[in-house]
Amino acid sequence: MNNELMEIIRTVKSYIELERESGMEESISSKPAVAPSNAEKELEALKKNIMSCKRCSLSKTRTNVVFGAGSPEARLMFIGEAPGSEEDLQGLPFVGRAGQLLTKIIEAMGLKREDVYIANILKCRPPDNRPPSPEEIEACRDMVRRQINIIKPRIICTLGKFASQTMLNTETTISQLRGNFFEYKGIKVMPTFHPAYLLRNPDDKKLVWQDMKKIRKLL
Ligand code: URA
Repeated sequence: MNNELMEIIRTVKSYIELERESGMEESISSKPAVAPSNAEKELEALKKNIMSCKRCSLSKTRTNVVFGAGSPEARLMFIGEAPGSEEDLQGLPFVGRAGQLLTKIIEAMGLKREDVYIANILKCRPPDNRPPSPEEIEACRDMVRRQINIIKPRIICTLGKFASQTMLNTETTISQLRGNFFEYKGIKVMPTFHPAYLLRNPDDKKLVWQDMKKIRKLL
């Protein structure tokens, strides 16, 4: 019995030795380290750059800049309006009640939040959740443009009136825009209702679901 045990220990030791020599030790102890992609590095650099942004007066009232979150390689990107109070506190997009509904929508599409990228037109919270001003949108427009250039999503889903009108440079109402694909620099854009609107108007969830099915088909 003792000999048998010694033999097993010897075999395991030589196996570990072999793995170490062939550089495979990682495979049994932890996940192999994956090098950050170019998109990930570029997003990190952009994030660093805007963490101290003072382009508009929202820098005086914000708690955190809410840069965006998700996969730098995402094929689908969601763009909302601006951080709310919970997002401002956590520094993450769509983590409040509307965010929980957005997560459910993403999961109903058979995706996870980590598969997509989520950002906002404004990176800082307007006090009392008031609508973004034209000056604030202008000051922040370049940030989302740069995020899109790095991520290069196949489809952008704009959530609500502000994101849709800003990205498509139009004053057409969200009710008229939603459900149709448009283009932004060769990327398909699907405007749909904002999850916060859906919390107040749950009957319109079926319309959003129609829009998500169109996106799903194209992905
Ligand atoms: N509403 C938005 O538009 N964005 C958020 O991040 C949260 C709520």
